[in-house]
Amino acid sequence: MNYQIQSIGEYEEAYKFSIENPEAFWAEIAYNFKWEKKWDNVLDWNFKEPNIKWFEGGTLNITENCLDRHLEILGNKTALIWEPNNPDDEIRTFTYNQLHKEVCRFANVLKNNGAKKGDRICIYMPMVPELAIAVLACARIGAIHSVVFGGFSAQSISDRIQDAQCSMVITADGAFRGAKEIALKPIMDEALVNCPSVNKVIVLERTKAKINMLKGRDVWWQDELAKANSDCPAEIMDAEDMLFILYTSGSTGKPKGVVHTCGGYMVYVGYTFANVFQYQPNEIFFCTADIGWVTGHSYIIYGPLLNGATSLMFEGVPNFPDAGRLWDIVAKHQVNILYTAPTAIRSLMQSGLDFVKGKNLNSLTKLGSVGEPINEEAWHWYSENIGKNNCPIADTWWQTETGGILISPIAGVTPTKPSYAMLPLPGIQPILVNEKGDEILGNNVSGNLCIKFPWPGMLRTTYGDHERCRLNYFATYENLYFTGDGCLRDADGHYRITGRVDDVLNVSGHRIGTAEVENAIDKHPDVIETAVVGYPHDIKGQGIYAFVICQKFPDDEAKTRTEILEIVTKEIGAFAKPDKIQFVNGLPKTRSGKIMRRILRKIAEGELENLGDITTLLDPGVVEDIKGGRL
Ligand code: WTA
Repeated sequence: MNYQIQSIGEYEEAYKFSIENPEAFWAEIAYNFKWEKKWDNVLDWNFKEPNIKWFEGGTLNITENCLDRHLEILGNKTALIWEPNNPDDEIRTFTYNQLHKEVCRFANVLKNNGAKKGDRICIYMPMVPELAIAVLACARIGAIHSVVFGGFSAQSISDRIQDAQCSMVITADGAFRGAKEIALKPIMDEALVNCPSVNKVIVLERTKAKINMLKGRDVWWQDELAKANSDCPAEIMDAEDMLFILYTSGSTGKPKGVVHTCGGYMVYVGYTFANVFQYQPNEIFFCTADIGWVTGHSYIIYGPLLNGATSLMFEGVPNFPDAGRLWDIVAKHQVNILYTAPTAIRSLMQSGLDFVKGKNLNSLTKLGSVGEPINEEAWHWYSENIGKNNCPIADTWWQTETGGILISPIAGVTPTKPSYAMLPLPGIQPILVNEKGDEILGNNVSGNLCIKFPWPGMLRTTYGDHERCRLNYFATYENLYFTGDGCLRDADGHYRITGRVDDVLNVSGHRIGTAEVENAIDKHPDVIETAVVGYPHDIKGQGIYAFVICQKFPDDEAKTRTEILEIVTKEIGAFAKPDKIQFVNGLPKTRSGKIMRRILRKIAEGELENLGDITTLLDPGVVEDIKGGRL
């Protein structure tokens, strides 16, 4: 890969060039891809409307870049390895030749069922290879995929389908996730009651659960496949045609449909995958995310395939059949690069080292982390027990809206530091601003993280509502993309994301990141995980309420509390000491592992009745537990 940066000197040089001459920088990277027709204009932009166009005049199809272009040399290389939920079931693998054929065949199924360029297609599936095939088949024919995570409720699916006016749905009878079997089709049936735009539903058989098929609307994946051939030329797309919509939550209730386009997204995820993970030919890359989230889109499917890599896709969950599952998968498939989330690391850490012992993790060369700030304790545990102090950790900061990684170490090339995302990738211009939007210069400072220049992978709009996109991301600060994250830049110029600024507390006039307090409390040797929220406090404005999980529920709560307060005083200052520390057995998490602070805030505020929708939680039961122990 010509765009792989391999030394710190090259990084510095590339970074400098990318700032001085961004168009030439990105054009050089874009030349590494297959364009049907090269662009006329690298970039046209303003952040006011916003109007962002990359590689205008260029045409391409991303699946030709993910598949066709590799066939000649890598046709027999494994593109996809699939590890089933049940470790005793058979694994499935697809070479680039095979994956190409399957994608083309299913693309013809889509066409045979009336799908065409520009149509929106909702995909609601388990983590099986057919999910990746469905995504790529949409891209093949120029249909816009909108993947909805398999854990969402009927109402959420319905909202998303209506917002995008999808004409087709691809789903499965059900899904296996750990010990659970989830009835996907009945949930979809319920969702579709209010979705008149959908006229075709393609159903994959996975669990063999008994389901209803609506005559005229529902067809079986297998039956349709039998009728389709595997010759499907790729639809030629303009660089700025939509590739996909992905819904994500903001501070308001209604999810936003983040829109990514064909050319820029391709260039950006290809570039970031190759660089951040320093992918080497024949390495096996395992991203544990679900394809229902952006991480799965960019780093299970598109990023690896654009680079001719081998991507491992896992159907199940890290603690099934036991907390050693991820390590078993690494050993079984000789995984080289593991990309996972802090929440998974912390939960496996809690299960103890017995699950790691005896597992052969020698194949690992690089580790990655994504999705939330990784606390120092988890970082060290990951580095020592999984990486055996031999694998660089790329703590990758990015968002659904950014398409790919923006700030991260380049594994083994640029420095790392626990809990720091470190440095922007070449092409990315982060700045910190104060409340008024003035740039904060120098080091040893913190502020709101903004990006001041476009990059090819950034969102273009929010589907059906451009004004919402402008207001959410481009109106807070003039001429800047606002990330919603707080951030500090240390004495060496390294970036550390401190968490959403929506979660920043103001205690007696002191601004305190919830993540900062959590990090400090996590330093207590008995503490596994902490969630901190603010609540109204008569004297201080806001008080700090900490929900804390310990390795084992403390015998002497008062003693552990005192120790925690001492640590917080030491790490941040006495002003950051929590007013209340409640020991809990679990935290309310979404199925993607994010802590639902909204619920904790309400409990902390004493608003126990109106907690809002808790149906999307991994385990709604923990809420009652926490309410019961409220201080
Ligand atoms: C947070 C996930 C700290 C951040 C790719 C961001 C992180 C939000 C990190 C986006 C990281 C993501 N360190 N915080 N390495 N990665 N975040 O859209 O608050 O699901 O704004 O995208 O996750 O979440 P999203």
